[in-house]
Amino acid sequence: MTIHATPATTPARERDATPLLQVRDATKRYGGVLAVQEISFDVYPGEILGLIGPNGAGKTTLLNLITGIARPTRGTITFEGRSIVGRRPHTLGRGGIARTFQVVRPFANLTVRENVAVGAMYGAGGARRSTAEAFRKADEVIDFVHLGDQRTAAADSLPVAWRKRLEVAKALAMEPKLLLLDEVMAGLRGTEIDQAMELIRAISARGITIVIIEHVMKVIVGVCERVVVLDYGKKIAEGTPAEVTSNPAVIEAYLGKKYAREHLAARLPDAPVPIEAESQATTEGAGRDDAER
Ligand SMILES: Nc1ncnc2c1ncn2[C@@H]1O[C@H](COP(=O)(O)OP(=O)(O)OP(=O)(O)O)[C@@H](O)[C@H]1O
Ligand SMILES: [Mg+2]
Repeated sequence: MTIHATPATTPARERDATPLLQVRDATKRYGGVLAVQEISFDVYPGEILGLIGPNGAGKTTLLNLITGIARPTRGTITFEGRSIVGRRPHTLGRGGIARTFQVVRPFANLTVRENVAVGAMYGAGGARRSTAEAFRKADEVIDFVHLGDQRTAAADSLPVAWRKRLEVAKALAMEPKLLLLDEVMAGLRGTEIDQAMELIRAISARGITIVIIEHVMKVIVGVCERVVVLDYGKKIAEGTPAEVTSNPAVIEAYLGKKYAREHLAARLPDAPVPIEAESQATTEGAGRDDAER
């Protein structure tokens, strides 16, 4: 069963605005694995929507469906009111959808500046851009993400925090309306996470709509207005960060039934749940108590 109900706390903007992206009953099967099952949600213009869930929940697969890298087995996806199922990634890039990859993919033998210029040539404004204009755009974006000192460095020589920034810069150079970020904070620590959160807020302030996949709950709580939670390919919750982090099904998905049984009664209804402590310990993944399932 798929629930299309709008959460009670929906901000006024969402009730009135037309969604930029609509996902309806999206399903993706890989052989015997249902990676994504009947997922429905909307993304509204200007919002930052969090997409969370334990490892293998289907988050990256969902991004692949939205960006044309994989085709849904069933379901519909519309962007600006038009179906985008079956469109190729470069067509969607021209149309205003850009993403980062969980496993970063810079052109290793190109410099930072050249990598970002490639983004500028393939994005929404790319068709009308000369090479010189693409490099100008690249320089502007590189300054915006504070990678200026690394402009001429080879992409593969960068430490992980800067590679993640480069990944964001490549996507931003495409001048997207919708930016999909797949774990851009993984491997970052302390102040690096704070800086990356600032960058996300700055991108949002430019009017770009953002969907962010992230295991670091501090980031989700800090930047997202709304969160969709996946587990085993299904949507198990949707709401504000406070709502989803106090939702028993979400706690169970992250921390296991045993934890939920022992701690939930004492914590609910309104105490925050320590998902943050768990997931910050391993920024590459959120745990799940498989023995309990
Ligand atoms: N191309 C593929 N072929 C076969 N199975 C796949 C493929 N892509 C994903 N899957 C499977 O689909 C499920 C969801 O994977 P996905 O990568 O979307 O999870 P995720 O939520 O992004 O996890 P993580 O937090 O570890 O990145 C997993 O069981 C995975 O093994
Ligand atoms: Mg993933």
